[in-house]
Amino acid sequence: MVRVPAPWNTFVEGDNLTVLPLLPDGSFDLIYLDPPYNTGNDFAYRDDFRGERGSGRVGRHGAWNAMIRPRLMQARRVLGAGGALAVSIDDHEVAHLRLLLDEIFGEENLLGQVVVNLNPKGRQLGRGFAISHEYLLVYARDLGACVLDPSSSAGVREADFPLLSADGRHYRRLPLRNTNKKFNPRTAPTLHFPVWGDPESGRVAVAPFEGATRIEPVFGDGRPAVWRWSAPRIEERPDDLECRLVRGVRGDRVDVYQRDWLHPPHGQRRKKLSTIWLAEEVGSTDTAVAELKAILGPVFESPKPTGLLRRLLETMPADARVLDFFAGSGTTGHAVALANAADGGRRTCLSVNSAEPTRAGSNAAHAGYADVAAITRARLRAVAEGVGGGFAEHPATAPLG
Ligand SMILES: C[S@@+](CC[C@H](N)C(=O)[O-])C[C@H]1O[C@@H](n2cnc3c(N)ncnc32)[C@H](O)[C@@H]1O
Repeated sequence: MVRVPAPWNTFVEGDNLTVLPLLPDGSFDLIYLDPPYNTGNDFAYRDDFRGERGSGRVGRHGAWNAMIRPRLMQARRVLGAGGALAVSIDDHEVAHLRLLLDEIFGEENLLGQVVVNLNPKGRQLGRGFAISHEYLLVYARDLGACVLDPSSSAGVREADFPLLSADGRHYRRLPLRNTNKKFNPRTAPTLHFPVWGDPESGRVAVAPFEGATRIEPVFGDGRPAVWRWSAPRIEERPDDLECRLVRGVRGDRVDVYQRDWLHPPHGQRRKKLSTIWLAEEVGSTDTAVAELKAILGPVFESPKPTGLLRRLLETMPADARVLDFFAGSGTTGHAVALANAADGGRRTCLSVNSAEPTRAGSNAAHAGYADVAAITRARLRAVAEGVGGGFAEHPATAPLG
Protein backbone atom coordinates (compact mmCIF):
# COMPACT_ATOMS: atom_id res chain seq x y z
CA MET A 1 0.00 0.00 0.00
CA VAL A 2 1.32 3.43 -0.89
CA ARG A 3 1.02 5.82 2.05
CA VAL A 4 -0.05 9.27 0.97
CA PRO A 5 2.02 11.76 2.99
CA ALA A 6 0.00 14.14 5.13
CA PRO A 7 -0.15 17.66 3.74
CA TRP A 8 2.06 20.09 5.59
CA ASN A 9 -0.93 22.35 6.18
CA THR A 10 -4.50 21.57 7.18
CA PHE A 11 -7.18 24.10 8.06
CA VAL A 12 -10.40 23.84 10.05
CA GLU A 13 -12.83 26.73 10.15
CA GLY A 14 -14.70 27.00 13.42
CA ASP A 15 -14.72 28.06 17.02
CA ASN A 16 -11.73 26.36 18.57
CA LEU A 17 -13.76 25.24 21.58
CA THR A 18 -15.93 23.22 19.19
CA VAL A 19 -12.99 21.90 17.18
CA LEU A 20 -10.63 20.93 20.04
CA PRO A 21 -12.85 18.12 21.43
CA LEU A 22 -12.65 16.47 17.97
CA LEU A 23 -8.86 16.04 18.32
CA PRO A 24 -7.48 12.84 19.91
CA ASP A 25 -5.49 12.94 23.17
CA GLY A 26 -1.76 13.49 22.73
CA SER A 27 -1.95 14.17 18.99
CA PHE A 28 0.38 17.24 18.84
CA ASP A 29 3.97 18.02 19.77
CA LEU A 30 3.91 21.80 19.68
CA ILE A 31 0.99 24.16 20.18
CA TYR A 32 1.49 27.83 19.39
CA LEU A 33 -1.24 30.28 20.39
CA ASP A 34 -1.65 33.98 19.78
CA PRO A 35 -5.05 34.60 21.37
CA PRO A 36 -6.97 37.87 21.24
CA TYR A 37 -5.20 40.14 23.74
CA ASN A 38 -8.04 41.73 25.69
CA THR A 39 -6.85 45.23 24.91
CA GLY A 40 -10.12 46.71 26.08
CA ASN A 41 -11.67 46.48 22.64
CA ASP A 42 -14.01 43.65 21.86
CA PHE A 43 -12.37 40.27 21.61
CA ALA A 44 -13.89 37.45 19.66
CA TYR A 45 -15.37 34.46 21.38
CA ARG A 46 -18.67 32.78 20.97
CA ASP A 47 -19.24 30.63 24.00
CA ASP A 48 -21.31 31.19 27.07
CA PHE A 49 -19.04 33.57 28.96
CA ARG A 50 -20.47 36.83 27.74
CA GLY A 51 -22.54 37.13 30.90
CA GLU A 52 -19.35 37.25 32.97
CA ARG A 53 -18.01 40.28 31.16
CA GLY A 54 -17.81 43.27 33.47
CA SER A 55 -17.29 46.85 32.49
CA GLY A 56 -14.13 47.44 34.57
CA ARG A 57 -10.62 45.92 34.41
CA VAL A 58 -11.45 43.07 36.82
CA GLY A 59 -14.54 42.08 34.84
CA ARG A 60 -12.58 42.11 31.60
CA HIS A 61 -9.81 39.95 33.06
CA GLY A 62 -12.44 37.57 34.38
CA ALA A 63 -14.13 37.28 31.00
CA TRP A 64 -10.80 36.78 29.20
CA ASN A 65 -9.79 34.16 31.73
CA ALA A 66 -13.12 32.37 31.32
CA MET A 67 -12.60 32.39 27.54
CA ILE A 68 -9.04 31.05 27.58
CA ARG A 69 -9.19 28.54 30.48
CA PRO A 70 -11.17 25.72 28.81
CA ARG A 71 -9.13 26.14 25.62
CA LEU A 72 -5.84 25.79 27.50
CA MET A 73 -7.16 22.70 29.25
CA GLN A 74 -7.96 21.20 25.85
CA ALA A 75 -4.51 22.26 24.63
CA ARG A 76 -2.89 20.26 27.44
CA ARG A 77 -5.06 17.23 26.64
CA VAL A 78 -4.10 17.16 22.96
CA LEU A 79 -0.35 17.59 23.66
CA GLY A 80 1.78 14.43 23.57
CA ALA A 81 3.94 13.53 26.58
CA GLY A 82 7.01 15.17 25.00
CA GLY A 83 5.09 18.21 23.82
CA ALA A 84 5.21 21.92 24.61
CA LEU A 85 2.91 24.93 24.47
CA ALA A 86 3.96 28.48 23.56
CA VAL A 87 1.55 31.40 23.98
CA SER A 88 2.11 34.96 22.77
CA ILE A 89 0.69 37.59 25.11
CA ASP A 90 1.17 41.28 25.91
CA ASP A 91 1.11 43.24 29.16
CA HIS A 92 -2.68 43.24 29.48
CA GLU A 93 -2.97 39.58 30.39
CA VAL A 94 0.56 38.27 30.92
CA ALA A 95 0.29 38.17 34.72
CA HIS A 96 -3.08 36.44 34.67
CA LEU A 97 -2.08 34.04 31.93
CA ARG A 98 1.13 33.06 33.74
CA LEU A 99 -0.85 32.13 36.86
CA LEU A 100 -3.44 30.26 34.82
CA LEU A 101 -0.76 28.29 32.96
CA ASP A 102 1.03 27.56 36.24
CA GLU A 103 -2.25 26.10 37.44
CA ILE A 104 -3.09 24.07 34.31
CA PHE A 105 0.42 22.95 33.27
CA GLY A 106 2.18 23.15 36.66
CA GLU A 107 4.73 25.87 37.39
CA GLU A 108 7.50 23.25 37.39
CA ASN A 109 6.84 22.86 33.65
CA LEU A 110 7.63 26.49 32.75
CA LEU A 111 10.39 26.52 30.12
CA GLY A 112 10.58 30.29 29.91
CA GLN A 113 8.87 33.65 29.83
CA VAL A 114 10.50 35.07 26.73
CA VAL A 115 10.51 38.79 25.87
CA VAL A 116 9.88 39.23 22.15
CA ASN A 117 10.94 42.61 20.79
CA LEU A 118 8.23 42.87 18.13
CA ASN A 119 8.04 46.66 18.01
CA PRO A 120 11.62 47.99 18.22
CA LYS A 121 10.56 51.66 17.95
CA GLY A 122 8.18 51.25 20.88
CA ARG A 123 4.53 52.22 21.13
CA GLN A 124 4.46 56.00 21.34
CA LEU A 125 0.87 56.25 22.58
CA GLY A 126 -0.21 56.24 26.23
CA ARG A 127 1.14 57.58 29.47
CA GLY A 128 3.78 54.93 30.29
CA PHE A 129 7.03 53.85 28.68
CA ALA A 130 7.10 53.03 24.97
CA ILE A 131 6.35 49.32 24.97
CA SER A 132 8.50 47.51 22.46
CA HIS A 133 7.91 43.88 23.40
CA GLU A 134 5.42 41.13 24.04
CA TYR A 135 5.94 37.83 25.82
CA LEU A 136 6.02 34.20 24.87
CA LEU A 137 5.09 31.87 27.73
CA VAL A 138 6.48 28.41 27.05
CA TYR A 139 5.45 25.33 29.06
CA ALA A 140 6.32 21.67 28.77
CA ARG A 141 3.48 19.18 29.02
CA ASP A 142 5.87 17.26 31.27
CA LEU A 143 9.33 18.76 31.80
CA GLY A 144 11.01 15.37 32.28
CA ALA A 145 9.72 13.99 28.97
CA CYS A 146 9.70 17.22 26.92
CA VAL A 147 11.56 17.07 23.59
CA LEU A 148 11.85 20.85 23.22
CA ASP A 149 15.54 21.79 23.06
CA PRO A 150 15.77 25.49 24.03
CA SER A 151 18.72 26.16 21.76
CA SER A 152 19.39 27.21 18.19
CA SER A 153 22.14 26.83 15.61
CA ALA A 154 21.61 30.45 14.50
CA GLY A 155 23.37 32.11 17.45
CA VAL A 156 26.60 30.13 17.07
CA ARG A 157 29.40 32.54 16.05
CA GLU A 158 32.68 31.53 14.46
CA ALA A 159 34.36 34.32 16.44
CA ASP A 160 33.63 32.41 19.67
CA PHE A 161 35.88 29.58 18.37
CA PRO A 162 39.07 31.55 17.69
CA LEU A 163 41.63 28.70 17.58
CA LEU A 164 42.58 26.62 14.55
CA SER A 165 43.70 22.98 14.67
CA ALA A 166 46.48 21.68 12.42
CA ASP A 167 43.81 20.38 10.02
CA GLY A 168 42.09 23.79 9.86
CA ARG A 169 39.13 23.24 12.21
CA HIS A 170 37.92 26.06 14.48
CA TYR A 171 37.76 25.39 18.20
CA ARG A 172 37.90 26.96 21.63
CA ARG A 173 39.56 25.70 24.79
CA LEU A 174 37.46 24.72 27.79
CA PRO A 175 39.12 23.63 31.05
CA LEU A 176 38.68 19.89 31.53
CA ARG A 177 38.52 20.64 35.22
CA ASN A 178 34.98 21.12 36.50
CA THR A 179 34.95 24.73 37.73
CA ASN A 180 31.59 24.30 39.51
CA LYS A 181 32.36 24.01 43.23
CA LYS A 182 29.36 21.73 43.72
CA PHE A 183 31.42 19.01 42.06
CA ASN A 184 34.40 17.91 44.14
CA PRO A 185 36.06 14.63 45.17
CA ARG A 186 33.39 14.14 47.85
CA THR A 187 30.34 14.64 45.55
CA ALA A 188 31.86 13.04 42.41
CA PRO A 189 34.61 10.64 43.59
CA THR A 190 34.87 8.74 40.28
CA LEU A 191 35.89 11.95 38.47
CA HIS A 192 38.83 12.63 40.75
CA PHE A 193 41.91 10.87 39.36
CA PRO A 194 45.31 11.91 37.97
CA VAL A 195 45.95 12.25 34.24
CA TRP A 196 49.28 12.56 32.44
CA GLY A 197 50.06 15.27 29.94
CA ASP A 198 52.95 16.68 27.90
CA PRO A 199 52.68 20.42 27.17
CA GLU A 200 55.29 20.08 24.39
CA SER A 201 53.25 17.68 22.28
CA GLY A 202 49.86 18.50 23.88
CA ARG A 203 49.22 14.77 24.44
CA VAL A 204 46.92 13.71 27.33
CA ALA A 205 46.42 10.15 28.70
CA VAL A 206 45.09 8.40 31.78
CA ALA A 207 48.33 6.42 32.19
CA PRO A 208 51.94 7.68 32.42
CA PHE A 209 53.98 8.00 29.21
CA GLU A 210 57.46 9.22 28.31
CA GLY A 211 57.93 12.94 29.07
CA ALA A 212 54.50 13.30 30.74
CA THR A 213 53.68 15.26 33.90
CA ARG A 214 51.15 13.98 36.44
CA ILE A 215 48.20 16.41 36.66
CA GLU A 216 45.55 16.45 39.41
CA PRO A 217 42.35 18.48 39.02
CA VAL A 218 42.47 21.48 41.43
CA PHE A 219 40.46 24.66 41.91
CA GLY A 220 42.15 28.08 41.62
CA ASP A 221 42.73 28.13 45.38
CA GLY A 222 44.54 24.78 45.25
CA ARG A 223 41.73 22.69 46.74
CA PRO A 224 41.07 19.31 45.06
CA ALA A 225 38.56 19.38 42.17
CA VAL A 226 37.26 16.83 39.64
CA TRP A 227 37.39 16.42 35.86
CA ARG A 228 34.33 16.84 33.64
CA TRP A 229 35.14 13.65 31.73
CA SER A 230 35.45 10.11 33.04
CA ALA A 231 38.69 8.16 32.52
CA PRO A 232 37.19 5.96 29.72
CA ARG A 233 36.00 9.07 27.89
CA ILE A 234 39.46 10.66 28.12
CA GLU A 235 40.94 7.48 26.68
CA GLU A 236 38.39 7.39 23.85
CA ARG A 237 38.83 11.01 22.72
CA PRO A 238 42.54 11.96 23.01
CA ASP A 239 42.30 14.25 19.94
CA ASP A 240 39.70 16.39 21.69
CA LEU A 241 42.08 17.15 24.57
CA GLU A 242 45.14 19.34 24.88
CA CYS A 243 47.82 19.66 27.57
CA ARG A 244 49.25 23.19 28.00
CA LEU A 245 51.67 25.12 30.11
CA VAL A 246 49.74 27.99 31.69
CA ARG A 247 51.54 31.06 33.00
CA GLY A 248 49.67 32.37 36.04
CA VAL A 249 50.33 35.00 38.71
CA ARG A 250 51.24 32.21 41.12
CA GLY A 251 53.74 30.66 38.71
CA ASP A 252 53.53 28.24 35.79
CA ARG A 253 51.36 25.13 35.88
CA VAL A 254 50.44 22.36 33.47
CA ASP A 255 46.71 21.93 32.80
CA VAL A 256 44.35 20.00 30.54
CA TYR A 257 41.80 21.51 28.15
CA GLN A 258 39.01 20.19 25.99
CA ARG A 259 39.09 21.26 22.34
CA ASP A 260 35.48 22.32 21.81
CA TRP A 261 34.90 22.27 18.04
CA LEU A 262 32.81 24.80 16.08
CA HIS A 263 31.64 21.92 13.90
CA PRO A 264 31.59 18.78 16.07
CA PRO A 265 31.99 15.57 14.05
CA HIS A 266 28.55 14.32 15.13
CA GLY A 267 25.56 16.65 15.05
CA GLN A 268 25.23 20.40 14.74
CA ARG A 269 26.50 22.88 17.31
CA ARG A 270 23.69 24.77 19.01
CA LYS A 271 23.61 27.60 21.52
CA LYS A 272 21.10 27.95 24.34
CA LEU A 273 18.56 30.63 23.45
CA SER A 274 18.30 33.57 25.81
CA THR A 275 14.94 34.84 27.06
CA ILE A 276 15.16 38.02 24.95
CA TRP A 277 14.37 37.56 21.26
CA LEU A 278 15.25 40.63 19.23
CA ALA A 279 13.33 41.89 16.20
CA GLU A 280 16.53 41.67 14.13
CA GLU A 281 16.61 37.93 14.92
CA VAL A 282 12.95 36.90 14.65
CA GLY A 283 11.28 39.78 12.79
CA SER A 284 8.85 42.44 13.98
CA THR A 285 5.18 43.26 13.52
CA ASP A 286 6.27 45.49 10.59
CA THR A 287 8.15 42.67 8.87
CA ALA A 288 5.19 40.36 9.54
CA VAL A 289 2.81 42.81 7.86
CA ALA A 290 5.21 43.01 4.91
CA GLU A 291 5.38 39.20 4.65
CA LEU A 292 1.61 38.96 4.52
CA LYS A 293 1.33 41.91 2.14
CA ALA A 294 3.64 40.13 -0.30
CA ILE A 295 1.19 37.20 -0.44
CA LEU A 296 -2.34 38.54 0.12
CA GLY A 297 -2.01 42.29 0.65
CA PRO A 298 -2.29 44.21 3.95
CA VAL A 299 -5.37 42.26 5.06
CA PHE A 300 -4.54 41.48 8.71
CA GLU A 301 -3.47 44.05 11.27
CA SER A 302 -1.32 42.17 13.74
CA PRO A 303 0.23 39.05 12.26
CA LYS A 304 3.29 37.49 13.84
CA PRO A 305 6.54 37.25 11.84
CA THR A 306 7.33 33.78 10.45
CA GLY A 307 10.79 34.22 12.03
CA LEU A 308 9.27 33.96 15.50
CA LEU A 309 7.60 30.66 14.60
CA ARG A 310 10.72 29.40 12.80
CA ARG A 311 12.75 29.93 15.95
CA LEU A 312 10.18 27.98 17.98
CA LEU A 313 10.07 25.21 15.37
CA GLU A 314 13.86 24.95 15.52
CA THR A 315 13.58 23.88 19.17
CA MET A 316 11.43 20.86 18.19
CA PRO A 317 12.11 17.75 16.07
CA ALA A 318 11.75 18.20 12.30
CA ASP A 319 8.63 15.98 12.21
CA ALA A 320 6.76 17.93 14.90
CA ARG A 321 2.97 17.92 14.70
CA VAL A 322 2.03 21.56 15.23
CA LEU A 323 -1.33 23.06 16.21
CA ASP A 324 -2.40 26.71 16.17
CA PHE A 325 -6.03 27.22 17.12
CA PHE A 326 -5.96 31.04 16.98
CA ALA A 327 -4.42 30.89 13.51
CA GLY A 328 -5.37 34.38 12.25
CA SER A 329 -3.54 35.04 9.00
CA GLY A 330 -1.91 31.56 9.08
CA THR A 331 1.63 32.55 10.09
CA THR A 332 2.30 29.26 11.90
CA GLY A 333 1.34 27.16 8.88
CA HIS A 334 3.47 29.40 6.67
CA ALA A 335 6.47 28.97 9.00
CA VAL A 336 6.01 25.18 9.05
CA ALA A 337 6.13 25.06 5.25
CA LEU A 338 9.21 27.33 5.14
CA ALA A 339 10.97 25.18 7.76
CA ASN A 340 10.19 21.93 5.89
CA ALA A 341 11.33 23.43 2.59
CA ALA A 342 14.57 24.59 4.22
CA ASP A 343 15.59 21.39 6.02
CA GLY A 344 13.60 18.59 4.38
CA GLY A 345 11.56 18.15 7.58
CA ARG A 346 8.14 16.51 7.78
CA ARG A 347 6.36 18.87 10.15
CA THR A 348 2.61 19.19 9.86
CA CYS A 349 0.41 22.03 11.03
CA LEU A 350 -3.26 22.14 11.87
CA SER A 351 -4.61 25.70 11.84
CA VAL A 352 -8.00 26.57 13.30
CA ASN A 353 -9.76 29.92 13.06
CA SER A 354 -13.35 31.01 13.45
CA ALA A 355 -15.26 32.86 10.75
CA GLU A 356 -14.90 36.11 12.68
CA PRO A 357 -16.23 38.81 10.34
CA THR A 358 -13.67 41.32 9.09
CA ARG A 359 -14.35 44.96 9.99
CA ALA A 360 -16.52 46.87 7.54
CA GLY A 361 -14.30 49.28 5.59
CA SER A 362 -11.10 47.39 6.47
CA ASN A 363 -8.48 46.44 3.87
CA ALA A 364 -9.59 42.82 4.31
CA ALA A 365 -13.24 43.64 3.58
CA HIS A 366 -12.20 45.74 0.55
CA ALA A 367 -10.10 42.81 -0.69
CA GLY A 368 -13.19 40.57 -0.52
CA TYR A 369 -12.40 38.65 2.69
CA ALA A 370 -15.68 38.51 4.60
CA ASP A 371 -14.15 36.78 7.60
CA VAL A 372 -10.76 35.87 9.10
CA ALA A 373 -11.12 32.17 8.16
CA ALA A 374 -11.11 33.25 4.50
CA ILE A 375 -7.77 34.99 5.11
CA THR A 376 -6.25 31.94 6.88
CA ARG A 377 -7.40 29.68 4.04
CA ALA A 378 -6.13 32.01 1.31
CA ARG A 379 -2.67 32.33 2.86
CA LEU A 380 -2.26 28.60 3.45
CA ARG A 381 -3.35 27.88 -0.14
CA ALA A 382 -0.86 30.45 -1.43
CA VAL A 383 1.86 28.92 0.76
CA ALA A 384 1.13 25.45 -0.64
CA GLU A 385 1.48 26.83 -4.16
CA GLY A 386 4.56 28.94 -3.49
CA VAL A 387 6.47 26.87 -0.93
CA GLY A 388 4.93 23.41 -1.32
CA GLY A 389 3.67 20.68 0.97
CA GLY A 390 0.00 20.75 -0.01
CA PHE A 391 -3.08 22.03 1.75
CA ALA A 392 -6.21 20.29 3.04
CA GLU A 393 -9.37 21.55 4.68
CA HIS A 394 -11.58 19.65 7.13
CA PRO A 395 -15.08 20.41 8.33
CA ALA A 396 -15.36 21.18 12.06
CA THR A 397 -17.86 18.36 12.52
CA ALA A 398 -16.15 14.98 12.02
CA PRO A 399 -13.43 13.64 14.38
CA LEU A 400 -9.99 14.79 13.27
CA GLY A 401 -6.72 12.92 13.25
C1 LIG B 1 -4.17 37.65 17.52
S1 LIG B 1 -4.93 36.81 16.22
C2 LIG B 1 -3.76 35.61 15.71
C3 LIG B 1 -2.81 36.14 14.69
C4 LIG B 1 -1.88 35.10 14.13
N1 LIG B 1 -0.91 34.65 15.08
C5 LIG B 1 -1.16 35.63 12.91
O1 LIG B 1 0.09 35.66 12.88
O2 LIG B 1 -1.82 36.05 11.97
C6 LIG B 1 -6.15 35.87 17.03
C7 LIG B 1 -7.06 35.12 16.08
O3 LIG B 1 -7.90 34.27 16.82
C8 LIG B 1 -9.16 34.18 16.17
N2 LIG B 1 -10.13 33.72 17.19
C9 LIG B 1 -10.60 34.42 18.24
N3 LIG B 1 -11.44 33.67 18.97
C10 LIG B 1 -11.50 32.45 18.36
C11 LIG B 1 -12.18 31.24 18.63
N4 LIG B 1 -12.98 31.16 19.68
N5 LIG B 1 -12.00 30.20 17.80
C12 LIG B 1 -11.18 30.28 16.73
N6 LIG B 1 -10.50 31.42 16.41
C13 LIG B 1 -10.66 32.49 17.22
C14 LIG B 1 -9.39 35.57 15.64
O4 LIG B 1 -10.25 35.53 14.52
C15 LIG B 1 -7.99 36.00 15.27
O5 LIG B 1 -7.76 35.73 13.91
